[in-house]
Amino acid sequence: MNYFLYKNNQLHCEEVAIQEIAAQVGTPFYLYSKATLRRHFQAFDSAFTAPHITCFAAKSCSNIAILNLFSSLGGGADIVSGGELFRALTAGVDPQKIVYSGVGKSRDELKYGLESGILMFNVESEQELDALQEVAASLGVQAPVSFRVNPDVDPQTHAYISTGLAKNKFGIPIADAPAAYQRAAAMANIEVKGVSCHIGSQLTQVSPFVESLAKVKKFIHRLHKSGCPIKYLDLGGGLGITYDDEEPPAPLDYARALEAELGDLGCTLILEPGRVIVGNAGILVTKVLYTKQGGKKFTIVDAGMNDLARPSLYGAHHTILPVEERGQGREMGDVVGPICETGDFLARDKEVPLSRQNDLLAVMSAGAYGFSMASNYNSRPRVAEVLVDGAKFHVIRRRETLESLIAGEMIP
Ligand SMILES: Cc1ncc(COP(=O)(O)O)c(C=O)c1O
Repeated sequence: MNYFLYKNNQLHCEEVAIQEIAAQVGTPFYLYSKATLRRHFQAFDSAFTAPHITCFAAKSCSNIAILNLFSSLGGGADIVSGGELFRALTAGVDPQKIVYSGVGKSRDELKYGLESGILMFNVESEQELDALQEVAASLGVQAPVSFRVNPDVDPQTHAYISTGLAKNKFGIPIADAPAAYQRAAAMANIEVKGVSCHIGSQLTQVSPFVESLAKVKKFIHRLHKSGCPIKYLDLGGGLGITYDDEEPPAPLDYARALEAELGDLGCTLILEPGRVIVGNAGILVTKVLYTKQGGKKFTIVDAGMNDLARPSLYGAHHTILPVEERGQGREMGDVVGPICETGDFLARDKEVPLSRQNDLLAVMSAGAYGFSMASNYNSRPRVAEVLVDGAKFHVIRRRETLESLIAGEMIP
């Protein structure tokens, strides 16, 4: 359920006509609905009855206004870089609700995390553990640690966003984890706190989550027996959304299935949802520059693969709607951007709105891995981000300028 709806044939975000925002902010821009963000966060968070912390995956949508909103609703953050830590802290996220994942944390990043007093590091290799021990010793502190275990479970999703198979770079093999925990427990500046696991993104079935939890649960029982207390069980993120015709489980069904498998392990759950909260709470608004008939019909818009990478990167589907519905109908064709790459498309061989110059189009379901994956490729300033709250809208990130493109560059 989201708040992007037509009223009098004009697409609105909550109570604001998108055309009005475009007239004031220009195009392209990302547009988020606060009521939708709030609703999705609360639907997910309240689905769990066990003690838990919902640590929003900052990588999916990292604007500080959005991190701040989830923090005000009691959430934390799942981060994967020093940059995301900086954002989370700036947004006011409680450090004791921040978990830090990622295979390649640098020593500077480990130090930043320790100095900030985050809840725990999800360590992904034995060498990272050694580095963390060294950095913690140099600061004279204890590093809170969980190992990210790789359960070798197939999440049945796109290969690029599958993370829990043995052939993926993430985590340590679950078979090697007992030895890793034993080593960690003996280290002077390491405090073992939890076990973590994240098997992939855009999962549309609950069974891979349950299969992976069953393996991790068995492992935690084993750790408890060997006298290693585990306070936190981090189940990662990954719940999918409907982009097209997918039918992912609702958060309540997901939570029920997980809690049924969990039993009474006595751990506080950490959850790291990203896409399921922001995916359908944001859209990309773009303007038609030109249309042309080549070997097929092309609608050329002012947003490209640098603004929304998912179609080019994953062949992902995003439904495209006209901002003004005047009965124009739809046609087969491509919606393409201005980038000099054949792979630059927002829709390829899809039914798209029959458009004319200056029409506004809404690229739906773009809230997750949209702006956060945007780049300056082809020296295109990154677009503005706008948040609607009822009848008002706020620019939460200004459109970049030409000056900002070369900030930091020097001619020697
Ligand atoms: C460690 C970790 N946690 C959470 C997430 C969020 O996943 P999603 O946006 O699918 O919920 C990701 C994304 O890949 C991740 O790598």
